Amino acid sequence: MTKIPSGIRGGVITGYGTALPPTVLTNDDLAARMDTSDEWIRERTGILSRHVGGTTSGLSIESGRKAIEMAGLDPSEIDALVLATTTPDRTVPATSATVQNGLGLRCGAFDVNAACSGFVYSLVVAHGLLAMGARKILVIGTDTLARITDWEDRNTAILFADGSAAVVLEAAENGGQLLAWNLDADGSAEEFLFAEIGGHIKMDGKEVFRRAVRIMCDSAEKSMADAGLTADDIAMVIPHQANIRIIQAACDRLGIPEERTATVLHYTGNTSSASIPLALVDALRSDRIKKGDNILLVGFGAGMTAASAIIKWGGQ
Ligand code: UT7
Repeated sequence: MTKIPSGIRGGVITGYGTALPPTVLTNDDLAARMDTSDEWIRERTGILSRHVGGTTSGLSIESGRKAIEMAGLDPSEIDALVLATTTPDRTVPATSATVQNGLGLRCGAFDVNAACSGFVYSLVVAHGLLAMGARKILVIGTDTLARITDWEDRNTAILFADGSAAVVLEAAENGGQLLAWNLDADGSAEEFLFAEIGGHIKMDGKEVFRRAVRIMCDSAEKSMADAGLTADDIAMVIPHQANIRIIQAACDRLGIPEERTATVLHYTGNTSSASIPLALVDALRSDRIKKGDNILLVGFGAGMTAASAIIKWGGQ
């Protein structure tokens, strides 16, 4: 059980921003390089195109700056930076250090690597920092998977891409937005999806698919139970953007109609740590989320990790 104790200070999202590199790779571009087709990729994944290029720090600085501006803050007011990424620019230091400097922040900064679950992990950690006295936190999810993708391997090259999205979380004394959360990991499944240092992503797609639906739903069901909510109470699901068939199967099992799901994978591909916040911001920009809505963020990734969080948009 991870019920949030009453009286704990929470937070609300007051700003957000995104960054996608300008270069777009379509399915036809990939079909020109390897034995695949636009039709196969569309049908089996839901992806039509993806953005590639840039660095994890560069994209993070761009999305982070937009989020801080939208929140109406000066960078010096941020108390902590949490950067979710599985593709740091260097082994040492953490990419968050480069981002901290690039944004002119004057606070602690650290990376969180939980692969595609990283943004939800980071959001939960950030709420912990708010409970411990921090007031303004920048949470960024960024990955540049193109750098570790084998562009000769049709099993992975059709899926992975680059992107970033950021949110500013500000302390809320009278009940924040986070209603419940769940973080999970099963290291015994690491061989199904990994990249050695300096190497390319290796994936057993079928096994990842099979486990993904189960671990996403398990995590989401635990969060819903802790929040005292059922599927009918969830206004919008923001799932990890890996494969439209995984999203459909998970929604089906959770009993949440697909119309209540945010998807961006058709134009972003799988951007790992960036995928959930990119989908969240897309839903906000298209006015699909209203104050008071219960939003379920849920993801899975290498590790294998899974994570979910339920937020009441605008706070309680
Ligand atoms: O963040 C987490 C990241 N990872 C994931 O989410 C991966 C989860 N898995 C998947 O999304 C899917 O398993 C894939 C999209 C990777 C593959 O889809 P699938 O429906 O599991 O395809 P499959 O591997 O069962 O292959 C079906 C057929 C095979 O041909 P035969 O044996 O039926 O003749 C493959 O050789 O499709 C063929 N195939 C392709 N054809 C064209 C496999 N990949 C491709 C391709 N283009 N890219």
